[in-house]
Amino acid sequence: MVKKYRLGNPIETDSVVVSIQEEKSTIPYFDIVQGKNELRFDMDENDHVFGLGETVRGINKRGYIFTSKCADDPNHTEDKRSLYAAQNFFVIWGNGKGFGMYVDTPGCVSFDIGYTDTNVFFIEFEDFDANIYVIDGASILDIVKEFRGIIGKSYIPPRWAFGFGQSRWSYMNEDQVREVVDNYDKNDIPIDSVYLDIDYMERYKDFTVSDERFPDFKAFVEEMKKRNIHLVPIIDAGVKIEEGYDVYEEGVKNDYFCKKENGENLVAAVWPGKVHFPDFLNEDARKWFGDKYKVLLDYGIDGFWNDMNEPAIFYTEDHLKEVFEKIKEYEGKNLDIRSFFDMQGMVGGLANNDEDYRRFYHEYKGKRYRHDKVHNLFGYNMTRAAGEAFERLSPDKRILMFSRSSYIGMHRYGGVWCGDNKSWWSHLLLNIQQMTALNMCGFIYSGADVGGFGADVTEDLLLRWAEFGIFTPLFRNHSAEGTRRQEFYRFTDTESFRNISKLRYALIPYLYSEFMNAVDNDEMLFRPLCFDHPEDDMAYEVEDQLYVGSSIMIAPVYKQNANGRYVYLPEDMKLCRFRSYNDYDVEVLGKGHHYVKAALNEVLVFIKKGHELPLATPASRTEDIDYNNLNYERF
Ligand code: GLC
Repeated sequence: MVKKYRLGNPIETDSVVVSIQEEKSTIPYFDIVQGKNELRFDMDENDHVFGLGETVRGINKRGYIFTSKCADDPNHTEDKRSLYAAQNFFVIWGNGKGFGMYVDTPGCVSFDIGYTDTNVFFIEFEDFDANIYVIDGASILDIVKEFRGIIGKSYIPPRWAFGFGQSRWSYMNEDQVREVVDNYDKNDIPIDSVYLDIDYMERYKDFTVSDERFPDFKAFVEEMKKRNIHLVPIIDAGVKIEEGYDVYEEGVKNDYFCKKENGENLVAAVWPGKVHFPDFLNEDARKWFGDKYKVLLDYGIDGFWNDMNEPAIFYTEDHLKEVFEKIKEYEGKNLDIRSFFDMQGMVGGLANNDEDYRRFYHEYKGKRYRHDKVHNLFGYNMTRAAGEAFERLSPDKRILMFSRSSYIGMHRYGGVWCGDNKSWWSHLLLNIQQMTALNMCGFIYSGADVGGFGADVTEDLLLRWAEFGIFTPLFRNHSAEGTRRQEFYRFTDTESFRNISKLRYALIPYLYSEFMNAVDNDEMLFRPLCFDHPEDDMAYEVEDQLYVGSSIMIAPVYKQNANGRYVYLPEDMKLCRFRSYNDYDVEVLGKGHHYVKAALNEVLVFIKKGHELPLATPASRTEDIDYNNLNYERF
């Protein structure tokens, strides 16, 4: 049962797709704090809080404060309050009852879940305007399902997008891409896609391809297609300011870029240097930008990733000018503690500066909004631009699309990846924990950079991460410029990488059908144990094991030098300890605690009673998997 309440004058976000009559009564459960833009709920000591999508920290959100303010921040440490997404849906559950709430507002809002006061949940609004949806249900899963029912069906990618993708910032030219595919093939490690990061473009201009690096791009896409390899280029939010560049010229001419108060187009800077931001909130601009993907579709491209769409701002022209002027004042002076910190802060604070987010405006649904008021809708609407365009341009063929920034509603147009994580063991755990909250909010096609994006990976971390990544719909190895190369074939134990990757391909029939089930029936592909076993107190404590689909549970190893791990089984299960898709031992384990061995090359999969796990014979590409010839491991 979903009920809708209104606070103030909410800005419509198009995240909810069914029309729900507004209640006249006050919001249940939470009280309005007099004199403040705050809602307050007194938590019972047994209450758990789940959801909020892509954030730092664990599955139970209690004990910290999370702020929805899409942020380009590559340091996902546990002190951070915001990552790239704003996904304001949560469920509070304890003592066998609870409710869900969706706080639908595009502005900045904080969820203080026992941070200020251990047993109090405050929702703090910058502007006290929101549509609030309160969802009652008999279980957490019921509540999630009800919620998903009002936000519309999740995005479905093409089937090849369940294959493995190799990425790097950047493969610089055709030969480097060929080399990657050759090496995967030579080493008999399955692969379906190679990602093209920013350097495929001509001077970082969206919808261009560098002639020098990819002299005959159409032929190259075709060559790759013949090998059943999909190239997936990146698209950035900022449009380079360059005379003669059609996207820039058209945007200026038609007033499709975000403007400052004085009516001039905002000049910000990202990879290409100075850019304008398309006003994705403006319907006409959105259509125009969406149609631009055709340039690449016409080359035969059928997948994209949308990036830097919080939007990330290195600096704005206006702010940079102010900073240079101030620095001049400091020149030649003996800087003391305050003046030095001030100067350092000014330079360090150039990027993603709050003031800059107040410098420009959007034309949205016939009104003008200052950016910060609708900040969290920007990445969502960039991806919506693409998604709506694909419906027009490619109605019969699914196109891969995922985004860095997101808001609920965007889940209908694309998936997400979790941005610039690091090659840290703690980020492998974070990846495991992020999946469930993303699923609650409708983001089913999702995953993180396997192996970690920033910092240098080690072979054991990459292997352990792959052992988890094979279960995430988006299974992509990506890493940053300047870090250690981390293609699977570069490491000593190639055989284990081969076996783990092949296990992924053996699992695709299961993963794909469970994915489709999650989309069609508004269910979660990844679930914490307590969602399936709400009566089991111990299940609430487990934050590092997940149910994946209806038949299996996984318990990834995420600690260095571990030869196994403790697992808690809320029910009897059959353990399959996979070394490869056709090499595994099985053992029935009873409900309760166990220490389970898992050597570096072993993956732990637990099958539920009365269930079966289909396993295909792997192929080097998803297209060659024989779905009619499956083996079953049953319990
Ligand atoms: C951003 C993206 C990352 C990409 C880089 C260069 O940091 O999050 O994935 O590699 O930009 O485009």
